[in-house]
Amino acid sequence: MNTIYLTTSEEDLKKAAGILQRGGLVAFPTETVYGLGGNALDLNASRRIYAAKGRPSDNPLIVHISELSQAEPLVRRVSGLEYPEGSDIPVNAHRLAEAIWPGPMTMVLPKSPLVPKETTGGLDTVALRLPANAATLRLIEYAGIPVAGPSANISGRPSPTTWQHVRDDLDGRIDAVIKGEPCIGGIESTVVDMTEELPVILRPGLITPERISQVLQLPCSYDPAILGSPDPSLVPKAPGMKYRHYAPKAEMRLFRLREGNPGRSADQLISVMNEEAEEYRRLGRNVEVLFYESEREAAEKLFADLRRLDQENADMIFAAALDQSSSIGFSVMNRMLKSAGYNIVEV
Ligand code: TXA
Ligand code: MG
Repeated sequence: MNTIYLTTSEEDLKKAAGILQRGGLVAFPTETVYGLGGNALDLNASRRIYAAKGRPSDNPLIVHISELSQAEPLVRRVSGLEYPEGSDIPVNAHRLAEAIWPGPMTMVLPKSPLVPKETTGGLDTVALRLPANAATLRLIEYAGIPVAGPSANISGRPSPTTWQHVRDDLDGRIDAVIKGEPCIGGIESTVVDMTEELPVILRPGLITPERISQVLQLPCSYDPAILGSPDPSLVPKAPGMKYRHYAPKAEMRLFRLREGNPGRSADQLISVMNEEAEEYRRLGRNVEVLFYESEREAAEKLFADLRRLDQENADMIFAAALDQSSSIGFSVMNRMLKSAGYNIVEV
């Protein structure tokens, strides 16, 4: 298949919308990572998305919309939730949407029969997201259909934050790529389960539990399965969280300060990493050291750095762990730990 590369001009966005309407696949920019779009209501388009990514078909796709009202026919009323008159979107989901969308948050709600099980990985719920990217919102509007969109990478690889990353993974496997801006968020949206009375975060992201709590005036917790709980019987409610993810080709190690070791500082952590890297370099290994000044910078750059180091044929990547006591640090560390295959060195 010949993949075409489109700009964000009106003409090109209309062309891309036509491809989506005809069941084709178009990669699009968002504020978090690039997505691989297809008609969410067309089960064949969903099957093509799974095939292009090499993704297991029990891992549901996020459905992108351009305005809240587009969600109405996609969701279904259930008992136990409060609804405003004339809407099948729960009151709390309305509140979150008004406060945070467009923005890096995905809400899981009970799905209507209109959404095929192929799109939701067999689940009875649908994940909805209204991304903060003007070109992509126009694309969805022109297409006039909800757009299923997982991250536009080959399954297991770091998520793409530039259109060039998408090209590296999916050229020849999809119909088109929109050449938008690099993503500023850098990690995927927060996924929040809104199917029960209280919101539960299924995948951490840049929208924190504190923010959700503040908007809803309700407690907001993490799904225990993402807290690194030792109980192996806990299965994450977001099926994607159980798969191997974000893995660079190089062996990756995370260096962190041992708890209760107040004698050491972040500077010392870096010098230990550098010393160890030097030792491996003397043995002829190509070792790269990653260190970020802030959690936001880590979020923005992590996936792009992992892809760059792969291209530079790094054998080993040493990265400094982030402080997990802040919600953003926790969200980025959720990815870093998976990238490193939970390979942690305590110093
Ligand atoms: O920022 C993002 O969310 C990006 C951009 C493109 O929007 N998309 C993205 O999609 O990261 P994906 O498919 O790579 O990740 C979707 C995550 C997976 O962990 C999946 O299991 C979970 O959301 N998910 C999707 N639908 C769900 C549902 N109905 N119930 C629970 N989890 C769901
Ligand atoms: Mg993904």
